[in-house]
Amino acid sequence: MDVNEKIKKIEEQIEASVNDIKSSKTLQEIKMRFLGKTGEISSLMKNMRDVPPDQRPGLGKILNTLRQWTESKFDSLEKDIKAFELKKKYAEEKIDVTIPGQTSPDGAYHPNTLIKNELVSLFAGLGFEIYEGPEIENDYYNFTALNTPADHPARDMQDTFYLTEDLLLRTQTSAGQIRVMENKKPPIKILSPGKVYRSDDDATHSPMFSQMEGLVIDKGITLCDLKGMLDEFARRVFGESVKTRLRPSYFPFTEPSVEVDVSCFECGGKGCKLCKGTGWIEILGAGMVNRRVLEGCGIDPDEYTGFAFGMGIERIAMLKYGINNMKLLFEGDTRFLKQFKD
Ligand code: DAH
Repeated sequence: MDVNEKIKKIEEQIEASVNDIKSSKTLQEIKMRFLGKTGEISSLMKNMRDVPPDQRPGLGKILNTLRQWTESKFDSLEKDIKAFELKKKYAEEKIDVTIPGQTSPDGAYHPNTLIKNELVSLFAGLGFEIYEGPEIENDYYNFTALNTPADHPARDMQDTFYLTEDLLLRTQTSAGQIRVMENKKPPIKILSPGKVYRSDDDATHSPMFSQMEGLVIDKGITLCDLKGMLDEFARRVFGESVKTRLRPSYFPFTEPSVEVDVSCFECGGKGCKLCKGTGWIEILGAGMVNRRVLEGCGIDPDEYTGFAFGMGIERIAMLKYGINNMKLLFEGDTRFLKQFKD
């Protein structure tokens, strides 16, 4: 085939292949087929060697023109394709800034956490250290060391989940008192919040609930110190005008033992539904630490005295927020929980 024919063929091939170009990638491939080092035009140029010398300049000119024509053809194609691809990309990436965003709702503190945080900060402000004991206890810390030996009738006050004959889920955070007194010399001033477990389940009881235990041991501590601290606690948690009163009670680990009431913060003491017409609401148990408990922990009861108190966090939360069923505190229903957002 003579050169001119070849050139014509190449031109035709180029025109035909242009239709196959769908993207910059195919454009590049096709361009290489003609203009690449081993492409059709380059091999024609290499063949110049075989052409008689007198014909070379003329042919060289023709081939150069072909090359330039091909290059400019592909260049302009490339421009069009790039512009087209960019437009397509922009169209695909277009975002509608007016579409409402996907938001995840803000969380809120659980009422138990709110009360716990409030009490921890209140008591920390009064100089209490925080101690958290284990939830799985042995019989000794949960009962015996708290002056409640195996045959003691007070064990029936708390329906216990036993894991083994000796291990149990603690029924009271009072167990932590013993661990602290065994390891620390007085003066002691600790607050011990945590979960406790009892086989009990109704509108005001749950098998798992939270307590907060307080313990103060030092020389010369009396019931008056307890009363003074409780007054401060009641004012801060329930309101400035709230008063406390102590009623005699019984706990094996305190002597004397008291039940602590606050004057009804709903009716101011006149009597209402919340306080069942009595003007008073029971909030916690307390007392002077029993001598036998101190002795058992190696603390001399003739030198040191102290008081302890224990309260249910859920109970305080229910009273403070007017929650009438304890189940609400455990169900995780967001319609309930979101009401406690600040
Ligand atoms: N541990 C008691 C209970 O769970 C509460 C309690 C009462 C704790 C009197 C005390 C206390 O420290 O002195 O019912």
